[in-house]
Amino acid sequence: MSYYASLKSIGAYAPSKILSNHDLEKMVDTSDEWIQKRTGIRERRIAAPEELTSDMGVAASKKAIERAGIDPKTIDGVICATLSPDYLTMPSTACIIAHKLGIGHVMAFDISAACSGFVYLLNLAKSLVESGAYKNLSIVGAEKISSYIDYTDRSTCILFGDGGGAAIIGRTNDINEAILDVHVSSDGEYGHLLMTPGGGSKEPCSAKLLESKRQYIQMAGNEVFKVAVKTLTNDVIDILKKNRINPNEIDHFVPHQANYRIIEAVRAKLDFPKSKTVLTVHKYGNTSAASIPMAINDAFEEGRIKRGDLMLLDTFGGGFTWGSALVRFGGN
Ligand code: ACO
Repeated sequence: MSYYASLKSIGAYAPSKILSNHDLEKMVDTSDEWIQKRTGIRERRIAAPEELTSDMGVAASKKAIERAGIDPKTIDGVICATLSPDYLTMPSTACIIAHKLGIGHVMAFDISAACSGFVYLLNLAKSLVESGAYKNLSIVGAEKISSYIDYTDRSTCILFGDGGGAAIIGRTNDINEAILDVHVSSDGEYGHLLMTPGGGSKEPCSAKLLESKRQYIQMAGNEVFKVAVKTLTNDVIDILKKNRINPNEIDHFVPHQANYRIIEAVRAKLDFPKSKTVLTVHKYGNTSAASIPMAINDAFEEGRIKRGDLMLLDTFGGGFTWGSALVRFGGN
């Protein structure tokens, strides 16, 4: 018996606290005008101190489980992509999410692929479901990225926000609701351009480290920008070509929401209409692994995405990692 893997449902959660560009003007030397012009971001959400990455993952998963109409006990695996786990080494955020959802004893682990996390998860879940080994996987991208941001560094603090997104990946026999293809890749040569230098085993936590602020995310934004546009454009062209899909057959272009200018460059190159491009960067900023599922969720809640619609996802992040996916929406 062979199956296709299907994205059966989507869910997301955004914390209630809003950090606007005007708020940031009072914190660092920046302006609403600069941020909007260079990134397209107007505001982002920040989790409450007691609100954890796992809590945002749980809230998003609950919505996805409800929309899939499945009993949580039928979920046989939880995989979480995050660069801001509840705990640095263990337990994994996925173990905590599975426990908080009351799913029981199932496979649960985290992956590390920065902003590309959700597309990496799709790749993994597709293989696990198509092999017949798993029936229903909960895949979660969740980030309390504000914990890793230096709010005195204007080059990074304006970009990121917190949130969570989740999807149920299950079996189907119908190609019209299947995950058609996923490409993921990486190039570690560029790791230094976007990294958290301290706090890992290379530079363990110490008073000196905390003083140097090397526990926070650092980025050579301009250099990342150039590689991102080039890589994403080529990757999207490749996946469409390989699957013999014409850009005009895409119903929804759902890019990683890092910077409006990156999205616009790829969109224009591929000639996707703006009306088919899902945009949330203005209201959530870059929520890393949560960005794509949060964007799909927004479009779903607006009634834009219907069962069978063809979505093209693309993403780029630290590592460097990148990926793209062609997904026919399998939900209702
Ligand atoms: N407000 C005002 N001025 C600023 C700010 C700010 N917040 N930040 C930087 N500047 C200044 C710089 O100091 C520089 O000044 P100078 O010319 O006097 O030296 C000037 O603005 C231009 O800086 P650039 O870095 O060249 O600005 P750029 O147009 O590249 O925009 C940005 C910066 C928004 C970070 C952009 O490069 C970007 O979006 N990069 C890609 C981010 C991304 O996609 N990351 C991947 C995913 S993230 C992940 O995986 C976790």
